[in-house]
Amino acid sequence: MDTTPENSSLTSSATGQSEPVGSGVESSASSLLSLRDITKSFGAVQALRHVDLDIPAGQVTALIGDNGAGKSTLIKTISGIWAPTSGTMYWQGQGVQVHTPRDASHLGIATVYQDLALCDNLDVVQNMYLGRESTRAGLLDEITMELATTQTLKDLAVTSVKSVRQVVGSLSGGQRQAVAVARAVMRESKLVILDEPTAALGVTQTAQVLELIRTLSSKGIAVLLISHNLNDVFSVADRIAVMYLGTLVHHGPIANYDRNSAVEMITTGKSDRVPSSLASSN
Ligand SMILES: Nc1ncnc2c1ncn2[C@@H]1O[C@H](COP(=O)(O)OP(=O)(O)OP(=O)(O)O)[C@@H](O)[C@H]1O
Ligand SMILES: [Mg+2]
Repeated sequence: MDTTPENSSLTSSATGQSEPVGSGVESSASSLLSLRDITKSFGAVQALRHVDLDIPAGQVTALIGDNGAGKSTLIKTISGIWAPTSGTMYWQGQGVQVHTPRDASHLGIATVYQDLALCDNLDVVQNMYLGRESTRAGLLDEITMELATTQTLKDLAVTSVKSVRQVVGSLSGGQRQAVAVARAVMRESKLVILDEPTAALGVTQTAQVLELIRTLSSKGIAVLLISHNLNDVFSVADRIAVMYLGTLVHHGPIANYDRNSAVEMITTGKSDRVPSSLASSN
């Protein structure tokens, strides 16, 4: 197969770029998730054009780009909501087809959408176990679920949720985000995708969510973070991937970017300040 991540990254690193920003051989060889030549059309609209992206384990990759650039379409494709029109996804080096969110979940991909999909009238434990409640002798095993919820929040250093028996509707935005992330983590996720997790949050709550993202990556979990907030991006990301009009125009280590070059790439799709551009096939 000539489309394995290793081979295609060899191709991309052989494009004469002295300091490749993108899918270097080493990063794709160790990638948790690799996308190759992913295209997604909605009728005449090409929302994704030939996207190549490598997401390494245990690192935070920030996905940035202007409104309509294709970020949500990309994560929905990874998460099994949309089937790509063409292209291949590799999970730990194996070609995979993700047809449904359940397929993604089985691989270890958990996506926390902006609306969070929590039930306000249920408590934290009930939300954590929604749809997959533990039972013992036909009865809900409340004690086990409560202990596991408490332990997961503790592992993630979420200390601000006072009681796991509190209804989620009474939590702050940051606490709700923490519950949604904890639920994703409890499902043994290897990749957690967060869509604008701090968009509605104040300063303190934002700091808590960013800390949570750092905790995830320190536990070896990969994070794909969609954010319009460059402060957040530069505070937690190890890598940046930039989308522009459906094309992934740049990706590489955060050290290759600064705020000015990031803004330039978001608004124009290119920047002279970055060592090298990813060779994109448009
Ligand atoms: N279900 C759909 N049907 C038709 N077109 C769609 C659909 N979803 C997205 N698009 C189009 O695909 C393109 C990319 O949209 P997408 O939602 O992925 O952008 P985005 O980068 O997430 O933007 P934002 O930052 O505003 O959330 C847009 O032109 C959008 O209109
Ligand atoms: Mg979006």
